[in-house]
Amino acid sequence: MKIRVNGQEVEVQAGMSVAAVVMNLGLAARRSVTGEPRGPVCGMGVCFECRLWVDGEGPLRSCQMPVREGMEVVTDAV
Ligand code: FES
Repeated sequence: MKIRVNGQEVEVQAGMSVAAVVMNLGLAARRSVTGEPRGPVCGMGVCFECRLWVDGEGPLRSCQMPVREGMEVVTDAV
């Protein structure tokens, strides 16, 4: 299936988490208040380091979100 990440179309496998897609692309999910790149740490919904925006909503924990056809993911937006 296909999703968009920061405006780029990406082919992904059903069942992947959005966090896995973002990591595979080498992107940070977000930036800290001091501007450091942040990404998934726990992978189980506890640390909130994987927050990003999906379909205009967020910040959401991307490790808890499976990919869905046509979803629009935006990183570094929080
Ligand atoms: S990686 Fe920890 S909440 Fe998503």
